[in-house]
Amino acid sequence: MKSNFEVKEVNTDLLILGGGMAACGAAVEASYWAKKHGLKVTLVDKAAVDRSGAVAMGLSAINQYVGLRDGQNTLEDYVKYVRNDLMGITREDLVANIARHVDSTVHLFEKWGLPIWKDEKGAYVHEGRWQLMINGESYKVIVAEAAKNAIGMENIYERIFIVAPIMDGNTCTGAVGFSVREETFYVFKAKAVLVAMGGAVHVFKPRSSGEGLGRAWYPPWNSGSSAYFTLKAGAEMTCQEVRFIPVRFKDAYGPVGAWFLLFKSRATNGMGGDYMVERKPELENWIPYGHVKPVPANLRNWLMMLDVMEGKGPIYMRTEEAIGKIVAEAGDEKAAKKKLKELESEAWEDFLDMTISQAILWAAQNIAPDQIASEIAAAEPYFIGSHSGASGAWVSGPKDLAPDDYYWGYANMSTVQGLFCAGDASGASSHKFSSGSHAEGRIAAKAAVDFIVDNPGERKYDAKVLEDLKNEILCPLDNYETNYQKTSDPAINPEYIIPKMFMFRLQKIMDEYAGGVSSQFKTSKALLNRGLELLNFLREDSKKLAAPDLHELMRCWENVQRMWQAEAHVRTMLFREETRWPGYYFRSDTPKMDQENWKVFANCKYDPSADKWEMMKRPIHQIVD
Ligand code: ADX
Repeated sequence: MKSNFEVKEVNTDLLILGGGMAACGAAVEASYWAKKHGLKVTLVDKAAVDRSGAVAMGLSAINQYVGLRDGQNTLEDYVKYVRNDLMGITREDLVANIARHVDSTVHLFEKWGLPIWKDEKGAYVHEGRWQLMINGESYKVIVAEAAKNAIGMENIYERIFIVAPIMDGNTCTGAVGFSVREETFYVFKAKAVLVAMGGAVHVFKPRSSGEGLGRAWYPPWNSGSSAYFTLKAGAEMTCQEVRFIPVRFKDAYGPVGAWFLLFKSRATNGMGGDYMVERKPELENWIPYGHVKPVPANLRNWLMMLDVMEGKGPIYMRTEEAIGKIVAEAGDEKAAKKKLKELESEAWEDFLDMTISQAILWAAQNIAPDQIASEIAAAEPYFIGSHSGASGAWVSGPKDLAPDDYYWGYANMSTVQGLFCAGDASGASSHKFSSGSHAEGRIAAKAAVDFIVDNPGERKYDAKVLEDLKNEILCPLDNYETNYQKTSDPAINPEYIIPKMFMFRLQKIMDEYAGGVSSQFKTSKALLNRGLELLNFLREDSKKLAAPDLHELMRCWENVQRMWQAEAHVRTMLFREETRWPGYYFRSDTPKMDQENWKVFANCKYDPSADKWEMMKRPIHQIVD
């Protein structure tokens, strides 16, 4: 019952929300600057920092390393790569700012103990142009250790689920949440808040069902906390339509990058055809991006989907062919044998470092990758600002790079005063991945400390508002307690809805109306409008969410957060009257790209006091030729 709850208040200067890569970067950097100014830094994580966030299980590669030190690439090269991959829609100032700092972050990882592959000359082994191979099973533990050492365990609150912002007009002054271990409601009061609570998974119906339910490419505990928090603060959001559909090894979601880039594998359809070759003419419909190299991720997806839609599946990653080719080039029989052993261990490690279930699936299906090809498939949509998606808050760029209308005083500050965003929480700066998220966390934290130094005054709090937030957040406990005896099965009750059923309903709406897997990623104005009507009913029912315990209470709020991410997505897909990213989603009523009217950002903003959404276009400024 909510009446059992104790309230704990924590006062700090900088409040970092989240414990993943961006938050760990923020912790390291903030500590350095905070010491100079005698400020306090506090970090709150819904899980335990050692294994939280997208990198929890580990990674087999670092996907962003520019290589400026060795003159391998220029900043401009990276900006152009990202611009092209996002079909022209990207904040170049943000991308460049991350790219110029990311290498130093990677060097720090190495200093902290992360094993990065080296060749015989001592140079990093690249997976592709921007990607480095690592032994990354303990990647997150290593990065977390540095963060913990920097700010001190006494300033880290683990197992606290953050729900909502505390606001004073257009200034964010803290956050509220609850412990998932004991009956404690937390009020964090701060001079600046840095949101790094990840992206959103399970907004759409996943491919995984039954015994596989819960398996996803991105971590299932990323429930849209960042999007909810920033929307509820009234921050302007960007690229809410830019979901990411990763093509992955089917059903266990193993990474494909090492196969496509390092082992130079092809993917072919059920008839043996190579869609990247056979479907090449389709790229002409997406000029100029159809001509760039590498082909943008969504267009690679699209060519594959065209095959799938014609019933030409399954699609196979030709691991046996790729390994066979490399082994054949190794030389004599002895060298070939050695090479095969080496490739075999690299292939398994690629999965074991980051997607253990894919290795288990290979074992379960008797797949020896040098002999048998493996199925790949387009996954359900995810919301993520760090990989090839772009959704997140609209944030200020850095002073030296940002055009006037992209700059409002502090790098990575949202349009809400004192509210900073990094990693999956900040939008329009794709392809930052794990390393770039850490670098962006550092950038945002340094700026947040500047903000606190410039705005040192005490913040105002309204006790009534805090009490209302507490009552609203803990309400599902009472909904359950009052009603659970009304039926014989606690999962089914006329007076309440449990979070799992609520999630199923959300996923069904999104799947069928907003272009999920079952709809072949296609939608239209009519479908989206109907989806919005159904989301509205869901929002009404969210008041009836019920939780028998703290874990379920967290799941109630996770699903409310997913629902808000869903609404921002549907509204922005409705607003953008074109198809810009076929392969991520296709609007069947506006099937073409429209450079004249829609080479712009589609932004949105929720006004909490009026309960109204506002949609707006923002111009794209190219800062690199
Ligand atoms: S991961 O995030 O799950 O590790 P994955 O291993 O597929 O992703 O891809 C890693 C990197 O390789 C990403 O930067 C991705 O954009 C890039 N990549 C994957 N496949 C291709 C391809 N066919 N062409 C170009 N880049 C690719």
